[in-house]
Amino acid sequence: MTDTTDRAIETLYRIYTMGLVVLATPIILTDYFKPETGAEYGVGLPTKLRLVWQMARNNGRIPTGSTFLEHLTIATKILELPADTEGSIVECGCYKGGSTANLSLVASACGRQLDVFDSFEGMPEPSERDEAHVLVESEQVHTYSENSWRASLEEAQANVAAYGDPSVCTFHRGYFEETLPEFEADCALVFLDVGLRDSAETCIEHLWPALVDGGYLFTHDVKHIEISSLFFDADWWRRHLDTEPPGLIGAGSGLGLHPDSNGFTSLLGYTVKNLEESAFERVAETGAGNCVDVSLRGQK
Ligand SMILES: C[S@@+](CC[C@H](N)C(=O)[O-])C[C@H]1O[C@@H](n2cnc3c(N)ncnc32)[C@H](O)[C@@H]1O
Repeated sequence: MTDTTDRAIETLYRIYTMGLVVLATPIILTDYFKPETGAEYGVGLPTKLRLVWQMARNNGRIPTGSTFLEHLTIATKILELPADTEGSIVECGCYKGGSTANLSLVASACGRQLDVFDSFEGMPEPSERDEAHVLVESEQVHTYSENSWRASLEEAQANVAAYGDPSVCTFHRGYFEETLPEFEADCALVFLDVGLRDSAETCIEHLWPALVDGGYLFTHDVKHIEISSLFFDADWWRRHLDTEPPGLIGAGSGLGLHPDSNGFTSLLGYTVKNLEESAFERVAETGAGNCVDVSLRGQK
């Protein structure tokens, strides 16, 4: 095939996947657009539409490792938190402030603080186990070196000032090992986008005890088997936090947000602290009663 044909096919494919994202977005954001989501904070449809527009625009303006659909998925859980739940939103791994700007907008709409942790010097030197990560779903091996993903505090703050709400943000500069032990506030929701297993362990060890019951912990590293597996590592959770591993929704392939050869995937997953199972519907696995509805109507 000629280069021109290749380019035409590539352009058509890009238009097709963009069309899919546009068509799927109202389904992906079903919970976000429910009237009860955000009602306790006085956040209604006009504010939600404004947030979608601002977050999509910011994604185009600030070089960012995560997408506005991922930010809106986190925003949905922030808006769903009961208003009387204490605690700030915490982000570990800010880079140039693209995700920070978007999280600051929803934190501000809900009257919450956003605590942002990063070295602002990039990654620390990776230990042997963090030099290369296997992403089975993407059929890739990602490698790390010291100072990768480097961006300065000044650049991140300038981006948040231009595109987010800096008035709700507190920036904690330094390696997590140094800054997190001094952080004492309650957390209502934690977003980790840290790349390294060592960094994820440090964040969870310090932030899980501060996370309120029913609070969410998101990770943007779910395709990294080295990091997803931490959420199922009973030995690690018992040794470091004297509790059982919480598991991870989206482990390995992520929440289904972006079209991909394996269907819809993303780098985002989450877990909930001390989940209240009594609020769940109980379903008896009888066999016939659990068979799929072939029309696929009403599948949850
Ligand atoms: C993938 S980037 C974050 C991307 C950002 N959330 C976005 O959406 O654009 C990872 C960030 O984690 C930070 N980081 C990783 N390990 C760290 C550690 N141990 N201490 C402080 N910062 C760390 C890096 O400096 C980098 O800015």
